[in-house]
Amino acid sequence: MAEPRKEPREAWGSRLGVILAVAGSAVGLGNFLRFPVQAAKNGGGAFMIPYFISFLLLGLPLMWIEWTIGRFGGGFERSTAPGIFETVWQKNRFIKYFGVIGIFGPTIIFVYYTYIESWLLGYSVFALTGRYASCTDQPSMAAFLKGYQGLVQNEHFSGIGPAYFFFLVTFAVNILVIWVGLRAGIERVCKYGLLVLFILAIAIVIRVATLGTPDPGRPEWNVNNGFGFLWNPRWAELKEAKVWLAAAGQIFFTLSVGFGVILTYASYLRRRDDVALSGLTASTANEFAEVILGGSIVIPAAFAIFGPQVTQEIAEGGAFNLGFVTMPLVLQKVAFGQFFAFAWFFLLFIAGVTSSISLALPAVVFLQDEFNLDRKTASILFAIVTFNLCQVVIFFNGQGALDEMDFWGGTFCVVLFAMIEVVLFAWVFGMDKAWSELHSGSDIRIPRIYRFIIKYITPLFLVLILGFWFVQEGWPTLLLEKTPAENVPYVIGTRVLLIDLFAALAFLVWLAWRKRHNGEAAR
Ligand code: PHE
Repeated sequence: MAEPRKEPREAWGSRLGVILAVAGSAVGLGNFLRFPVQAAKNGGGAFMIPYFISFLLLGLPLMWIEWTIGRFGGGFERSTAPGIFETVWQKNRFIKYFGVIGIFGPTIIFVYYTYIESWLLGYSVFALTGRYASCTDQPSMAAFLKGYQGLVQNEHFSGIGPAYFFFLVTFAVNILVIWVGLRAGIERVCKYGLLVLFILAIAIVIRVATLGTPDPGRPEWNVNNGFGFLWNPRWAELKEAKVWLAAAGQIFFTLSVGFGVILTYASYLRRRDDVALSGLTASTANEFAEVILGGSIVIPAAFAIFGPQVTQEIAEGGAFNLGFVTMPLVLQKVAFGQFFAFAWFFLLFIAGVTSSISLALPAVVFLQDEFNLDRKTASILFAIVTFNLCQVVIFFNGQGALDEMDFWGGTFCVVLFAMIEVVLFAWVFGMDKAWSELHSGSDIRIPRIYRFIIKYITPLFLVLILGFWFVQEGWPTLLLEKTPAENVPYVIGTRVLLIDLFAALAFLVWLAWRKRHNGEAAR
């Protein structure tokens, strides 16, 4: 006989709670660091066109799809992609293995995301204690960051000790929240976390908006021109495929769709709970945090203090430089800068935590659901495995381990997984059933045009993205064409590790299904 469940299935405490949990997953480092950099690099204001098109044709449809099939699978007490996919396509014996991506992807992102998150905790402490106060220009602040990450030894850091300490604390916080559970852990942390986050972000936006003209000798370096720098459209760039790829990639990443995490959150809804309005609300909250708040901090501030040339260079240098080098320098130059610097890093830390817990959840509930473990045992097993994987990122960060994980977990898996989701929803369910599932218990009616969009446009858009992406980035990266020669062994090592992890998860799926099958046969 099948064993009875060790623990009763969890449920969300309230409707607002689940919306905030999804919004908490969506609002993350992507909103405040990745978005402004992508916009500045890819057409400025013109970026908003592919961005909003991707939002309407990919982001929102996938958000609704994940909420709907997640809730559907939850009705069969399945909370992760292998089981959920099977409830949608019962006759297909292989679909569960495609579902492995929905556990694998979040787990590897969790591994590097938590490490980056821990830098933010470290820097919020440093902001308060004045640890980097002696660094007053870009080179020295950049050296501080490198020293902290253990990439070099210098006058600031003699080793990776401090970074490791903050990593341990951050990792423990994440595991603790998961351990405590859905309602008492995730829901509560997201509720208070988002509140604090929005307050801090608005305070920083006001601080930046009132920077005026910091250097009277250079009146054209001011905040208004900073906004202009970010938002003036460079239309010609829209002809480039890479701008469209960047926009679509940003939409996936920022909304947390195409990973499998929202699927798991939604599986704890009840059958008649609304998904249409809830999904829309969570998406809107994320877009507000991204475009309005995220777009009004780093770039305008950098412009006002450093002018156009340097800002352009910094944006090309990527999100980390803006966050960890430029922002602390900017905030050294303003009144109450120490407080605002703390607010900046702490806000990002909270944004990170509410995202990383959503990344941890699929693997943990997979163990709970499919192996009938209690949550605490599942959390500990997850912690042991990911803790070991984190060591790779911490110690081989300089050799490209982090980028390799981001490449597979953050891009490739996402587009593929999204594709499977759309096909399951629109073609396996069929649009009639899909539409009525989506509207069951719903508080709004979605415009009918979305029936057409979800069935034809979203999959077509995904195929195009996958194709362009593969030619431009996938294939060269697969062949290690862009990897510096000295990093090749490390990148290959990371890749082998990732393949092992995937294989191990697929094996667990096989094992769990066999157990389940035998249990059912015995009944
Ligand atoms: N949406 C998060 C951000 O913008 C990142 C994330 C991706 C979180 C996927 C969970 C799943 O930073």
